[in-house]
Amino acid sequence: MKVSVLLPAAGSGQRIGRGPKAFIEVGGKTLLQWALEGFAWADEIVVALPFGHHLDVPGLKAVLGGQTRQQSVFNMVQAATGEIVLVHDVARPFVVREAVERLLCEVRRSGAATLAVPVPDTLVQEQQRQYGAVIPREHYRLVQTPQGFRRELLWKAHLEAQAEGLEFTDDAQLVRSLGHPVALVEGDRRMFKVTYPEDLILAEGLARTWKS
Ligand code: C5P
Repeated sequence: MKVSVLLPAAGSGQRIGRGPKAFIEVGGKTLLQWALEGFAWADEIVVALPFGHHLDVPGLKAVLGGQTRQQSVFNMVQAATGEIVLVHDVARPFVVREAVERLLCEVRRSGAATLAVPVPDTLVQEQQRQYGAVIPREHYRLVQTPQGFRRELLWKAHLEAQAEGLEFTDDAQLVRSLGHPVALVEGDRRMFKVTYPEDLILAEGLARTWKS
């Protein structure tokens, strides 16, 4: 089955404060270049870019990003031609091939899956800046990307969410809101999301030893 990889790269990167995150450099390459290299094996790659940005990479489909991540992904699903689509945040530059293979295996089987990792720390509710109830962390997972779906299913989920005016932070929520189960597949902590300035320091360290 043909696999399209969709890379939402149109975020403003406000929490890092260094312009659009996809174009921040780590280990001499932009986050977007890292992601493109990590998925070089894919049958098709579609990227959603911020307004005014262009990419000259042969064979790459670029679309204009939307106001929100969901709108950016909508535009990419529309442009994608694979039977399977993997949606991956460019903010996660380190693509671990074995984890992606695990994910693809599950997507081929059940149609919808995401990578996720256990919560390493104690999880607690904040109650007026005090230590509140502890949430049993063994029942929770931190959701990563890529998330994979049969294209038809993801497209239906996006159309439905748009019609209902629902906005979600990831695609697994969209598909689940259709009533379709989304499998959790073991992710990899190296696929962390670069969100805060200190994450760039971690990313620089990992980039030094990275072999794709
Ligand atoms: O802001 P956050 O880190 O959650 O964004 C997740 C991903 O979604 C990033 O790769 C970002 O570039 C992308 N995004 C997008 N279009 C938007 C907002 C975010 O493609 N309007």
